[in-house]
Amino acid sequence: MPIATRHVDAGGRRTRVLEAGRGEPLLLIHAFPLTADFWQPQLEAPPPGWRVIAPDVLGPSETSMDDYAARIEAVAGALGLDRVGVGVVLGGLSMGGYIIFALVRRARLAVRGLVLADTRAEADTDEGRAGRKKMMALADAEGAAGVARDMLPKLVGETTHRERPHVVATVDALIASNSTAAIKAGLASMMTRPDSTPLLPSIDVPTLVVVGEEDVLTPPANADTLARGIRGSRLARIAKAGHLSSLERPDAFTAELEGFLREV
Ligand code: MLT
Repeated sequence: MPIATRHVDAGGRRTRVLEAGRGEPLLLIHAFPLTADFWQPQLEAPPPGWRVIAPDVLGPSETSMDDYAARIEAVAGALGLDRVGVGVVLGGLSMGGYIIFALVRRARLAVRGLVLADTRAEADTDEGRAGRKKMMALADAEGAAGVARDMLPKLVGETTHRERPHVVATVDALIASNSTAAIKAGLASMMTRPDSTPLLPSIDVPTLVVVGEEDVLTPPANADTLARGIRGSRLARIAKAGHLSSLERPDAFTAELEGFLREV
């Protein structure tokens, strides 16, 4: 399936958006510190009857999850997705999930279903915030390459490290394509995000929670909390995948996604 690249004016911010497939809108929000290309496997094989839309999210001027959510809303507006009567299905992995919680809280975009992959509802702990500050200093000192070296061991699972070196190389290249300023803004946004746990009982659209069984950043226990908190949600565990489950095991991830979308 050909992947189209376009640039839209999202509230005054030029934003690159990748798109493939035709049909109902499925808007996918990537993890930190990556880009829309993270969703390449899902863009190459869009679920039948669905139009996959993946915007770049990171930028130097966004400093909160609300800023990212506003950017997503602007992209949706520029593409006319806000006029789709039944709403869009939003999917997000890790930071993409944090942004989805901000979108749900703001309630400006009509949403028909959610896919929350390798993410968590909780805010950062004090220890987590201290780690973000260290990472900011590393980004200042060594740029994206230093951040990639630090994060890669945990971003992908042990099986991927052992058996899928091409995936590790892809993630490394995606991190390197972000500027130091955008990475630092991402860290600042994540460390100040609110706890979304109180939001979970109010989510009343069909929701798929996905987690890689080897995810050490947002482990299966986080997914269990999400699935317990969101009434009627469905939980899928992806074997032999770590934190970036959609890229590490696209076959298994997309099978779960397609099964969910058939029921939305
Ligand atoms: C991500 O994958 O988006 C980040 O690792 C999430 C985080 O650091 O909290």
